Amino acid sequence: MLQSRGVAARRTGFDALTKPVDEALQSRFPGLKGLVAAWDGPHVYLDLDALRRNHLSRPDVEKAVIEGLMKSGLVQRVYTQADLLGEAPAGDRDFTLFQRAFFQPRSAHLITRRGEGVPAGLDPTFSEWVARRERREPSAYIIGEREFYGRDFLVSPAVLIPRSETEHIVEALLPLLAVQPAALVADIGTGSGNIAVTLACEAPECRVVATDVSDVALAVAARNAVRHGVADRVTLVHTSYLDGVTDTFDVIAANPPYVRETDRAGLSPSVQREPAVALFGGRDGMRDVEGVLVATGARLRPGGWLLMEFGFGQEEAVRQAIARHPALRLDRVVADLQGLPRTIVAQRL
Ligand SMILES: C[S@@+](CC[C@H](N)C(=O)[O-])C[C@H]1O[C@@H](n2cnc3c(N)ncnc32)[C@H](O)[C@@H]1O
Repeated sequence: MLQSRGVAARRTGFDALTKPVDEALQSRFPGLKGLVAAWDGPHVYLDLDALRRNHLSRPDVEKAVIEGLMKSGLVQRVYTQADLLGEAPAGDRDFTLFQRAFFQPRSAHLITRRGEGVPAGLDPTFSEWVARRERREPSAYIIGEREFYGRDFLVSPAVLIPRSETEHIVEALLPLLAVQPAALVADIGTGSGNIAVTLACEAPECRVVATDVSDVALAVAARNAVRHGVADRVTLVHTSYLDGVTDTFDVIAANPPYVRETDRAGLSPSVQREPAVALFGGRDGMRDVEGVLVATGARLRPGGWLLMEFGFGQEEAVRQAIARHPALRLDRVVADLQGLPRTIVAQRL
């Protein structure tokens, strides 16, 4: 499993193998070191944080990695998904997952053009995956996993594929749990359980109540809670918002559906494969933002915190919605890595 935070530790012993790739990368990107986090034979692990820190584009890095691998003499040919992944919404992560799955030293073909087709005689799994990707199935569904905050989460077409911008909820929330380690947290619309399970892993004394209207999503969340050893502290509830939940929470987290219904046709084919119930928030995209605010008014303790993601271009609408709930004070708006406002942090008065 790739955990960028643990990359330094994992480098030990791999240096001899990663050196040729690192050297090729440095000749192309002077000053860049340690992008290749590890190599365990068939798989190359990239440090995604290094990619982001260096503002590198995925295709550039892909090219350099492939050159490095070829120069190393360790592989004959390399599979690349550059063309097939052209429309991937979170390219870096898809890229890494495909690298992990497809950097097979014994394989021998370089796919360079979209539509070139799959050569005869390739590994049948690879051929099937390529065909599914060509039909615009998201790579995370094909592989069945997506990394979130350094952990691999099981995903299926029943759940939204966790996005990197949602990690800002976790990042903003952990300092709150540091001062109140045994906090009771709600995660409204848990999907794969990525937020709830991550919080339970990162803050081992907290308890999380995670809700969703989708029972099939909750089944995936349950598997992720078991997978990461926190099922005893993550309670999954099949309900809308926090309906019927009687607890009073110290913190509420939510990444509600917020895509406008009117934007449906403009979504990429991959995103259209994700569950509608996880994407669409009514005509203006604000229906569930409002629902979360109402639930928060009822179930968040005075002094407690709400952290909620919202969509691109919705900051003003979210500010106005919060202003209509006088019991809530907007503390700050957190921007994503591109500098776009995406998460609110609000406090109950
Ligand atoms: C945008 S997804 C977020 C999934 C996950 N929390 C994440 O951050 O990746 C929204 C989730 O909210 C769920 N949902 C939609 N309406 C809901 C409601 N009224 N109450 C609770 N969950 C709801 C969907 O089923 C979906 O799993």
